Amino acid sequence: MQTKQLKELISQMTIEEKIGQLAQITGDFFDTNAKITGPMQTMDLTEKEITKVGSVIGILDYKKVKQIQDMYLAKSRLKIPLIFMSDVIHGANTIFPIPLGLSSAFNEDLIYEVAKISGKEAAIQGCNVTFSPMADLAFDARWGRNMEGNGEDPYLNERLTQAYVRGYQQKDKQGNLQLASCLKHFAGYGLVHAGREYNTVDISQRFLKEYHYPAYKSGIDAGAKMVMTAFNTINSIPAVSNESLLKRDLRQNMNFDYPIISDWGAISELIYHKVAQNKKEAALQAFKASCDIDMMTSCYQKELPKLIDEGLCNEADLDKAVYRLLNLKNELGLFENPYGQIDEEACKNFILSMEIKNKAKEAADESVVLLKNEESILPVKNEEKVIICGPLSNTKELMGPWSIYGDVSAISSIKEYFTKQNKNIKYIDYEQVLQNIELIKGAKKVIFFGGETSFESGEAHSKTNINIEQKQLTVLKQIKTIVKDIVFVNFSGRPLILSEINIYCQGILQAWFLGTMTAQSLYDIIYGNINPSGKLTMSFPRTVGHCPISYRDYPTGRPKEYAIDEYTSKYIDCLNEPLFPFGHGLSYANIQINKIVYDKEEFKKNEKIIIQVEVENLSKISAKQTLQLYINDLVADVIRPRKELKSFKKFKINKLIKKEIIFEINKEMLKYINQNGEEQIDTGDFEIMIGFDSTNVQTQKIKLIK
Ligand code: GLC
Repeated sequence: MQTKQLKELISQMTIEEKIGQLAQITGDFFDTNAKITGPMQTMDLTEKEITKVGSVIGILDYKKVKQIQDMYLAKSRLKIPLIFMSDVIHGANTIFPIPLGLSSAFNEDLIYEVAKISGKEAAIQGCNVTFSPMADLAFDARWGRNMEGNGEDPYLNERLTQAYVRGYQQKDKQGNLQLASCLKHFAGYGLVHAGREYNTVDISQRFLKEYHYPAYKSGIDAGAKMVMTAFNTINSIPAVSNESLLKRDLRQNMNFDYPIISDWGAISELIYHKVAQNKKEAALQAFKASCDIDMMTSCYQKELPKLIDEGLCNEADLDKAVYRLLNLKNELGLFENPYGQIDEEACKNFILSMEIKNKAKEAADESVVLLKNEESILPVKNEEKVIICGPLSNTKELMGPWSIYGDVSAISSIKEYFTKQNKNIKYIDYEQVLQNIELIKGAKKVIFFGGETSFESGEAHSKTNINIEQKQLTVLKQIKTIVKDIVFVNFSGRPLILSEINIYCQGILQAWFLGTMTAQSLYDIIYGNINPSGKLTMSFPRTVGHCPISYRDYPTGRPKEYAIDEYTSKYIDCLNEPLFPFGHGLSYANIQINKIVYDKEEFKKNEKIIIQVEVENLSKISAKQTLQLYINDLVADVIRPRKELKSFKKFKINKLIKKEIIFEINKEMLKYINQNGEEQIDTGDFEIMIGFDSTNVQTQKIKLIK
């Protein structure tokens, strides 16, 4: 439909029809079992109000989508189709690693491919919009939603967020959007106070602009079609009713003119925030702030008619909000084909196909992080007698918290898959080991699958205790009395405290929740068919007392390395540094940096520095490795972190060869937000640090001159 026709259509709509478009409800209101992903509240919607809503959440089933669409259009005066939205966060039926795991691959192309293929699996079943990617930076391991993001670094977050958007938003032959990407949660949700879910966020505008907005900007510039508001407050105002946040920072400054949707129930929750007396005030505040869609409350449908009638909201703004949504429906081709990308044939042969599973396996292989490998305990040799045990060694629940459409029958447990692959592997039930430790006698190595379950992270799952549970530690200590060689495979949706594990285990693999191909991937990595290459995108603290922690910390006025006495920025009971730092991840291959050559050490604003890094693989196996480049701004208008990731190069290197990796430094990489909130680039001295993680780096001073 042409824009002119869209505007013509809106001019024919009644007020109730316009307001109805701004309401989103679950499929349950259409008599089907939708996925419920938030607190259900009584909405008292009349039959007439239900037939007027504009969008449905939580259905991924082409038969149900068609049935609901048919029922709805039959009662629709102007035949404006419904739009269906779901949380396809790391896969639909075929589950991929959780985004925090995927981010460890440091691989934009992989993210693009994962979003593209999982987006197709969702679109052919009737999903028009996915509430993904989550672009919230996270530094606090106590927060449950770390699993859903890209970790703690703004630059990596920016690169991966736009890759998700580009991957999801493929076009079909008619030029219609396959699937629309909804960025979330705007903004600063990962900074909830004390890591407690839905809690207050207090952050300076400068930090928001410098660290939290770039990922949203990159997603919007990549064409994202929706933004969801966060549950938290910014500047003491809830995000969903925060005009500065939504109208100024998002719509004006980021030039975003597609729908803004509230998070589940957020508009009526303004009453709980104690900034609205009632639903009418809540509706007024959210609508004035430019929130277009009311997810799962009746505030807009019940209150906007009165607000417009009383002149407190104007119909012109209502028309703009309705236009943004109908324009999205139009870009998805829904007016011409209300069934969107539904493809019954594809549903038979594409869902959970080998094509998708192979991509899920590739993603899992690149997400696993080898944290420790003392005495090369890994990879295990096929002929070695190995015992596998642990609380997560005999379960299929390894898909992660946002696998609501995942097909659990498609996943193998560790026990099932490992014991089939290798007769030298013996599974012992975790409880039995607890009863009789003698059972592990005769084993050369023990592979212990532990950590937290798939139900302990995700939304509304903040924790104050992120240690490995005592029972697991007790068993490991007992095992250690009989078998020296222990590998710990840590499943988790967040960094856990591995300090004690680090004492007992020579090998530690961070396995996140890898999805449908978990067992296959971990087997290949543990037995060396795949060489691990993941790198941490969140620092692993030594203790929960470290939280929140980030590699991008500031020198303070008393950095411990400069001070000559006790008066320094430190803890008296723990090192400042995390147990495993951002960017850390080992390989089975020994890859080293032979030399780093800068073509110049001083450059003008219109020039760039070329850096040639010679790396060498000294081993007889190939590997993937990620070189990281950090900067340190030595003097600036505001405090600057000691190091900031500004580039990374992931490369494959065959056995026993050298390779040259090239980096460029340009003035844009030295940009920051000054104390007036403007972008600034200073001439002067900087340090460039290059390495395979954020701590073991080679440093070179450079100077930017006029
Ligand atoms: C939830 C989540 C959000 C999700 C939405 C719909 O409350 O905060 O990430 O997309 O509701 O399920």
